[in-house]
Amino acid sequence: MVQGQDILDNISTGIIALDVALRVTAVNAAGEALLKSSEARCLGLHAGQLVLNSEDWLANLQQVRKTKAPLTRRGMPVTLHNGQEIHLDIIITPMGRDGSLLMELQPVDRLLKISREEGLLHAQETTRAVIRGLAHEIKNPLGGVRGAAQLLARELPNEELAEYTHVIIREADRLRDLVDRLLGPHQQLELEQVNIHEILEHVRNLLLAESDNQASFIRDYDPSLPEFPGDRAQLIQVTLNIMRNALQAAADPEQCTITLRTRSRRQFTIGTTLHRLVCQVDIIDNGPGVPPEIEHAIFVPMVTGRAEGTGLGLAIAQSVINYHGGLLECCSEPGNTRFTLYLPMGQEHAQAQ
Ligand SMILES: Nc1ncnc2c1ncn2[C@@H]1O[C@H](COP(=O)(O)OP(=O)(O)OP(=O)(O)O)[C@@H](O)[C@H]1O
Ligand SMILES: [Mg+2]
Repeated sequence: MVQGQDILDNISTGIIALDVALRVTAVNAAGEALLKSSEARCLGLHAGQLVLNSEDWLANLQQVRKTKAPLTRRGMPVTLHNGQEIHLDIIITPMGRDGSLLMELQPVDRLLKISREEGLLHAQETTRAVIRGLAHEIKNPLGGVRGAAQLLARELPNEELAEYTHVIIREADRLRDLVDRLLGPHQQLELEQVNIHEILEHVRNLLLAESDNQASFIRDYDPSLPEFPGDRAQLIQVTLNIMRNALQAAADPEQCTITLRTRSRRQFTIGTTLHRLVCQVDIIDNGPGVPPEIEHAIFVPMVTGRAEGTGLGLAIAQSVINYHGGLLECCSEPGNTRFTLYLPMGQEHAQAQ
């Protein structure tokens, strides 16, 4: 039997119940996450003590208490106790006769972000579809070209001429490999229970070896994160490319500091799917930042800012994370470039697409 509290704790809207004196009588899990506080800490507090800029917030509550009519406020700026400013859509409803009030809170920034993420996922699907079509068109004739060159090689009267057919075969193979890499990982995910910290530590050690121990790392791990289903080898590939990019972007590896941060997020939406529990991994570097002229397109295959880069690393990383039901985001400015991985921690969401 689903209990009322279970329902409350599983909806993504923050709910706060207040008594007639505007003291908190209940907060659901989404409300706790929004206010960055626990129910135990909130219970009994006056509504004005929940946020730092309480004037507007209290005025609205008092208005509903007086008029007994529900009130909706959109995009209200709210400063949390940790100093963070967020924007909320708020609905306040009078409950029952005793003057209690119900507040429903929905972060606007998050909604905007969700629609942006949805756009990002759609754009990536389109890119993948174009590449799949193009790859098909290239690989078919390429097979023919290669086969014909092989036949020709057998018919050639002397060895010197065979060099030309070798060039055709070699270049055809190179093109096929490129197309295969453009297509990204197409095999099904090999899911096992993965420990994200073990993966990050493994990649950190690889990078330390690659940089001759020059790169430095700051680790800010949430040790309570449970294991979850993932493809270990592919997640290593993803995190290795992101960290390697940071190292490659740094002018001097000795100055390169990479911060690895893990957190769990509850009731988190990726694309259009709401997940109970999501693992968030931030990989942050202090390098020069993504060149502004390619910032909007770094996840598109073959977009690179490096002379020797193929521009496939992040495109492949994004596909792998999408196959896990997750999302990869980037936010960059000089001195602070952050790649964020969101990976659902429930079995039901990890699937090959
Ligand atoms: N941490 C970072 N700091 C600065 N620029 C970055 C960072 N990460 C990525 N970039 C930019 O994004 C581009 C695309 O990265 P991506 O990993 O997709 O390809 P690449 O590194 O150029 O080539 P490949 O990974 O295929 O060898 C990079 O060339 C670089 O210009
Ligand atoms: Mg790369």
